[in-house]
Amino acid sequence: MLHSPLRYPGGKSDFFAVAKSIISNAGISNVHVIEPYAGSAAVSLGLLDWGIARRVTLLERDPLLYAFWFCVFNHPAELIVAFQELPITIKTWEETRPLLAMDKPDPKRLVDLAVAALFLNRANFSGILNAGPIGGRQQRSKYKIDCRTNKDEIISRLLALSMLAPNVEVQFGDAVEWINRNSKTNSFVYLDPPYFVKGALLYRYHYRLKDHRDLSRALTTAKFKWLLSYDDDPVIEYLYEEFHISRLAFQYSVHSPQQRSELLISNFGHSLPPEYVAVKRRMRGRPGSGIDAADLAR
Ligand SMILES: C[S@@+](CC[C@H](N)C(=O)[O-])C[C@H]1O[C@@H](n2cnc3c(N)ncnc32)[C@H](O)[C@@H]1O
Repeated sequence: MLHSPLRYPGGKSDFFAVAKSIISNAGISNVHVIEPYAGSAAVSLGLLDWGIARRVTLLERDPLLYAFWFCVFNHPAELIVAFQELPITIKTWEETRPLLAMDKPDPKRLVDLAVAALFLNRANFSGILNAGPIGGRQQRSKYKIDCRTNKDEIISRLLALSMLAPNVEVQFGDAVEWINRNSKTNSFVYLDPPYFVKGALLYRYHYRLKDHRDLSRALTTAKFKWLLSYDDDPVIEYLYEEFHISRLAFQYSVHSPQQRSELLISNFGHSLPPEYVAVKRRMRGRPGSGIDAADLAR
């Protein structure tokens, strides 16, 4: 089984087993899978590793994450050597931060951007690229900036992924523009857009209400088969009311009996493995995001 070298907020490695079961049950195999909000890309790369996908295209709007994935599959040796040599220190953190100002990937600095993405992802709180370093800038905590960077383990994950290179393509760009340009593709598209409620806290590139609505409009006219995962909010149910929606239960952690739920939406009538079906939460007061779904109709 593949393990992502990225710690990812909202990462979908737990979700892989569910996606694999849904896709196999729908009779989808030997297919080209597109993941237009790549993040840690756990679902599409897992499908490739399992032979359910024959080819994968990753799309990402964050230039650092794009550069990371591009280099994993196109310049793995340079990425690994540069990462191996990088000191995991506050000095490196200070020197790396200016790269966050780049809104587009500079083709001449892709390896620098890729190493910056990997470094900041491992060194920052919760893997958030523009968060602070673990242990704080003064490093007074017992947890230090390097406590999540096991270089040997990360490099072995990078090497395992780089083996998939002949069947992976990585593109920089905007997901909705991609869907609108490729609405007739024969590929299977798995989408995990920035969260509706907490997206702004977790990702440098996140969505406003209009962007979530633009995505739902693009998917409504798309001819390809798609599977979409979202946080459980009534506005999202409203935006996708004409599609098949199921509620997926996740355990917060092995130590906690509490469950969280996510919505899984598709245009092909998927079925969820029974052990993952969540009960709809009863909302008290204003639901989820607090946005009244009826306002969207105006
Ligand atoms: C919820 S995360 C994806 C998580 C991913 N499925 C995983 O397993 O880690 C959303 C991702 O979409 C990216 N993103 C944000 N806006 C985007 C856009 N307009 N087009 C493409 N990607 C975008 C973010 O940078 C982030 O990596």
